[in-house]
Amino acid sequence: MWGVHRLPAILFLIMSNTTGFTRRRFLRTTAPAVLTAVAGARVSKAFQTGGRISATVTADLSAPGVPFNRMLFGQFLEHFHRQVYGGVFEPGSPIAGPDGFRTDVIAALGELKIPVVRWPGGCFASAYHWMEGVGRDRQPSFDKAWGVEDPNTFGTDEFVRWCRQIGAEPYICTNAGTGTSEEMSNWVEYCNLASQGRYARLRRANGFSEPHNVRYWSIGNENYLGGEIGAKTSVEWGPLVRESAKMMRAVDPHIKLLAAATVTGGWTSSLLNEAGRYLDYISIHGYWDPLWQANKPSDYLTSILRCAEPESEIEQAEKLLRDNGFDGKIKIAFDEWNLRGWHHPGFPGGGAVPDLIAQRAENDRNETYTMADAVFSASLLNACLRHAATVEMACMAPVVNARGPLYVHPKGIVKRTTFHVLKMYAELLEPNVVPARSMGDGFASGGKSVAAVDAVLTAGAGGKRFAAALINRHPEASATCSFRIAGLAPGASVTVRLLSGDSPDSYNDISRPDRVAPEERNLRLRDGSLELPPHSVALVRGSIA
Ligand code: AHR
Repeated sequence: MWGVHRLPAILFLIMSNTTGFTRRRFLRTTAPAVLTAVAGARVSKAFQTGGRISATVTADLSAPGVPFNRMLFGQFLEHFHRQVYGGVFEPGSPIAGPDGFRTDVIAALGELKIPVVRWPGGCFASAYHWMEGVGRDRQPSFDKAWGVEDPNTFGTDEFVRWCRQIGAEPYICTNAGTGTSEEMSNWVEYCNLASQGRYARLRRANGFSEPHNVRYWSIGNENYLGGEIGAKTSVEWGPLVRESAKMMRAVDPHIKLLAAATVTGGWTSSLLNEAGRYLDYISIHGYWDPLWQANKPSDYLTSILRCAEPESEIEQAEKLLRDNGFDGKIKIAFDEWNLRGWHHPGFPGGGAVPDLIAQRAENDRNETYTMADAVFSASLLNACLRHAATVEMACMAPVVNARGPLYVHPKGIVKRTTFHVLKMYAELLEPNVVPARSMGDGFASGGKSVAAVDAVLTAGAGGKRFAAALINRHPEASATCSFRIAGLAPGASVTVRLLSGDSPDSYNDISRPDRVAPEERNLRLRDGSLELPPHSVALVRGSIA
């Protein structure tokens, strides 16, 4: 059931003109609909009668597309709550292998074809000393970020081995909080040198004769935030990244380097001026439902009206790179994203918070992760795809438990709504994003507006096969989506993989693990159109003559 919202009296029905490769603009027209905001009320009357909306998707499959990087389907694993211990790593569990990795988790994540996983944080990284997590004698340490003891039984070697088992590249985020440039570069020695020096020899002594070959390394995590352990000023940040990058590249010149960045303000300009020449990516993060202090997840409508914000942040980051002369040289990694902010009162630490662990368990409540999360996540992925020339990595935060697509409990797993979205995108898109524009109805409330239908078109090498990622964000209205694609027959056969749920608030849980599950149909377009149910994500595949 929807929560009651304090929404303004008038709902604007707007004409939107969203162009895949340029900025969005909306024409507002006052809608006849009036919101009724009494207890249990919903959206406008027009929508309550299942009002219809429409959109036209125009695309040119013959245009040279932009190949997107599959690292857009990346993930993030942090030492927070039950992501590692009790998540991916549970020695002694009857469903864990001899290395302690949950085998059901490995099997499920294998379905997502995850290309890269970022670890060990996040805020955890900013006080983590990697040497405590290698070797035969692991002593627990106090995790200053999250105020708990970390047993250090899951460290670099375990992480790399786990990544290889799910088929993902390991991506390590180094400690630029309390750590040093030397500690970061020693970590690269441990992972990537064959046998020279004490750290490569240490890895070999720990049983790993071959290098781990970790390609992706980030310098720091959100060191711009005052609350981050070892926070840095913009004046401190550039030189620290520069000197760290020099030392890390001196160990392995082939690594791909990222650094914590913001999309506004002078922090990133200063970073680029001081260290841009050493970087391959800037790392940006986004969470849009602020739940760190009070765990009161926003309802569907409130969440969905924020769907355009990730693309705006991408555009800001692109402008920063252009303004500083690094467009085309440095790419963007959205390497922490989730609609829902994590709930972690009392950060950093949390010791003053009564029943801290019980409060953290609020992150695991499956009823939080509804079609709002699915539709928002698909919208963010569409935004990244539209900017495939600049956004080359995105990591959902996190991969298991908390706000992740996979919930892990002692006896099994639950694939949440977002799991199915990630799987659809990872499995069904064609390799090249082609120019497309979607024009149609939208909806607005409380000063925020969003297009009801969002579309991205991908094409195969010959420009004949296509896969469209279509989203109907509307909470109650079906959308008639008309295609205008040269060569596409009005009655063309298409295959539709659809995720919609029986309500905007549908979710999966232990008792109902498949309440929201994708369904696939082969159907024919009608006059070049198809119907998109409300609150739905559809991957539509076909080909032109
Ligand atoms: O809420 C989790 C935190 O979000 C991550 O540890 C940090 O990187 C981001 O601020």
